[in-house]
Amino acid sequence: MRAVVTEETGLEYTRLQDVPRPSAGPDDVLVQIRAAALNPADRYAIDGQYPGGPRPPFISGRDAAGIVVQSDTAGRVPAGTRVLVVQSSVRDLAQGTLCEVQRFPADTVAQIPDDWNWIEAAAAPLAFQTAWKAMNCRGPVTSDEIVAVTGAGGGVGLSAVQLALALGTQVVALSRSEAKRQQLQKLGASHVFAPDEPDLKRKVFDAIGRKGVDVVVDTVGGPLLTLAVHLLGPEGRVGVLGVLGGVEGTIPIPSLMFKRASLHGIQVADLDAVAAVVQWRQIATLLQNANRRPVIDQTFPLEQFSDAFARLRDSPFGKVVVEMPPDL
Ligand SMILES: NC(=O)c1ccc[n+]([C@@H]2O[C@H](COP(=O)([O-])OP(=O)(O)OC[C@H]3O[C@@H](n4cnc5c(N)ncnc54)[C@H](OP(=O)(O)O)[C@@H]3O)[C@@H](O)[C@H]2O)c1
Repeated sequence: MRAVVTEETGLEYTRLQDVPRPSAGPDDVLVQIRAAALNPADRYAIDGQYPGGPRPPFISGRDAAGIVVQSDTAGRVPAGTRVLVVQSSVRDLAQGTLCEVQRFPADTVAQIPDDWNWIEAAAAPLAFQTAWKAMNCRGPVTSDEIVAVTGAGGGVGLSAVQLALALGTQVVALSRSEAKRQQLQKLGASHVFAPDEPDLKRKVFDAIGRKGVDVVVDTVGGPLLTLAVHLLGPEGRVGVLGVLGGVEGTIPIPSLMFKRASLHGIQVADLDAVAAVVQWRQIATLLQNANRRPVIDQTFPLEQFSDAFARLRDSPFGKVVVEMPPDL
């Protein structure tokens, strides 16, 4: 079977090659992968920049959806089940998903919502789980609260927007791109702004009709973390999860103090597999009830995986997904 293998650090040493087909051990399922979504962490791992990431050679990718073709789970996850993989732990990167067949512990897969296709299913787990953790970083968000999202056009940002809309909250979406802002408005974001708009804080407060939002999901970091704190209202909180805008940010301390605000570092891999799957089911139910689904930017065949990684660096609107052939 074919797999995208990083033989040495760097995308130039990452190739599609034949590798031995794995087989399922006790409590494992063997999945014929039909689609695998890319995340920035996959590229960091290939480039040797993921703290504690895998050492070459490894198969990259964490998100996937496919069909169980062999199962040693006493009927818990029978062959023929359509599953998506909930393996947010970086330890599992060595068991990557950019391949035609992979073995997964049965407790790291969940059934795909009936009306989702392979691409949507593969795109969902990591981005939605990260967004969920950030949004609910200090307890569950309620429908009368207001959620702001930075990098709202990215994979995690769009997931946060979708989840907040599914919960019925007002959403303030911040995106650098005019085209993305228009698409965010079509998705239902209540207010959209460019993060560098002059006098942005006043404009946001005018738009929402109060002095501050309750939660900011900050997927960008750097100067946008500073902005996030300025946008908070009393008892506001920020889920801090990304560094594409910079690894350091200035915190306006008086703003933090007098709003009794809090910053929460988010790590998607902080749950064990069983808890992650339970959380995923909660997310999937919320999305299905609200008739919301992952936003896909572009799909690529397995042979064009390096074009998919290039697209990932090109500020896509939603998820970039690699498709596997239906017949092996
Ligand atoms: N902590 C965790 O557990 C965890 C989990 C998943 C992801 N992450 C991290 O979160 C970040 C976002 O992930 P993702 O999957 O959403 O990535 P993505 O799909 O590539 O989206 C990132 C978005 O951030 C914005 N952006 C990119 N570069 C920027 C810059 N220099 N300044 C301002 N905005 C910028 C863009 O949004 P606009 O074009 O709309 O402005 C872009 O679409 C990545 O750093 C990723 O590694 C962390």
